[in-house]
Amino acid sequence: MKIAVVGTGYVGLVSGTCFSETGNEVICVDIDQKKVEKLASGKITIYEPGLEKIFIRNTKEGRLTFTTSLEDAIKDAAVVMLALPTPPGEDGSADLKYILGVADHLGKILTDYKVIVDKSTVPVGTAEKVRAAIAKNAKVEFDVVSNPEFLREGVAVDDFMKPDRVVIGTTSDRAKKLMNDLYAPFVRQGNPLIFMDEKSAELTKYAANSFLATKITFMNEIASLCELLGADVDMVRKGMGSDDRIGRRFLFPGIGYGGSCFPKDVQALGKSAEEVNYNFKILDAVMEVNEKQKLHLMPAIRTYFNNDLKGKKIALWGLAFKPNTDDIREAPALYMIDALLAEGASVATYDPEAMNNVKQLVGDKITFVKASTKHCRMLMRL
Ligand SMILES: NC(=O)c1ccc[n+]([C@@H]2O[C@H](COP(=O)([O-])OP(=O)(O)OC[C@H]3O[C@@H](n4cnc5c(N)ncnc54)[C@H](O)[C@@H]3O)[C@@H](O)[C@H]2O)c1
Repeated sequence: MKIAVVGTGYVGLVSGTCFSETGNEVICVDIDQKKVEKLASGKITIYEPGLEKIFIRNTKEGRLTFTTSLEDAIKDAAVVMLALPTPPGEDGSADLKYILGVADHLGKILTDYKVIVDKSTVPVGTAEKVRAAIAKNAKVEFDVVSNPEFLREGVAVDDFMKPDRVVIGTTSDRAKKLMNDLYAPFVRQGNPLIFMDEKSAELTKYAANSFLATKITFMNEIASLCELLGADVDMVRKGMGSDDRIGRRFLFPGIGYGGSCFPKDVQALGKSAEEVNYNFKILDAVMEVNEKQKLHLMPAIRTYFNNDLKGKKIALWGLAFKPNTDDIREAPALYMIDALLAEGASVATYDPEAMNNVKQLVGDKITFVKASTKHCRMLMRL
């Protein structure tokens, strides 16, 4: 199948590469010319375990190519996947300008039937908006499908190649058949392709991410309570997690959830609820607790140094929002760095993948070291 992937970031590059790995011809398109040039010259732009190998194989074999021209990318494609950013707008709701901008453009250049697939995380009703934006100018038939992506950075290739489930929102039989064919190689082991309407698919993604953020936050609250009551959260975690109904995952307390998805998705779901006058109380509490959690270690550090951090050198080990990624969007470590610097501490950091991205952000305000903790007064593994 010929596929165009619009947006070549974490989701677009992984999706495009994995679709080419199953024999499809994939053209990835991005407005970032430097990114496209780098990818076209055979160099990968993100760190994701296992991705480089299949990226190189498929670019060499000509199944995976890159362009900045949307028109060229979609010309022969049966499917056009949108893997575009949906960052929080000023009021916290998902900003759809990238998606709707591309939809508008697509309407003007479609020359035959295509399935437009929304892989980005978008609020309920976006498929309808995309359909309307394309229909304004389109002279041919098309379908819009909601196919939210569930890959996790750090294990994205595995998640994509062997997904727990694939959620596909469409009411069109023609689109359903095509999506079924496209995903068949990825669900050979029997994991489900779950077909539903577009709105339910859109909400499924927000519901899943908000539930996971809530689980993390609940455990962070339990950890705070353990500190006050003298219980050991690690034992509580083990005791709780062995109950099948609860499960062992997402019960590790820490300095809050971060990354490019949970914070913005919890916020956007809250906004969607607000728009229909629904008071989604849990989400407000989750956001409030997580905000505080990012600096949860500060009081302990102050106490340790008698409220004087001036001149103290503190090492932060781990900068990305989780292991095995170079993505530092909304990484809690960045909040810790700001707080420590504001109190006069100096900060030495190490991360195997994310140091370059942090360097670009904070420059020489902190030092970047090899994996050594020599001369540090305190080491924190984040
Ligand atoms: N990163 C994740 O782990 C993850 C997982 C599941 C879902 N998602 C969702 O997927 C979507 C994309 O996330 P991401 O992390 O891949 O974002 P990203 O920022 O890494 O990538 C987006 C890409 O789109 C490009 N772009 C912007 N406007 C464009 C245009 N008009 N035409 C072509 N390209 C354009 C950007 O240059 C960038 O390369 C978001 O909605 C996100 O919530 C992300």
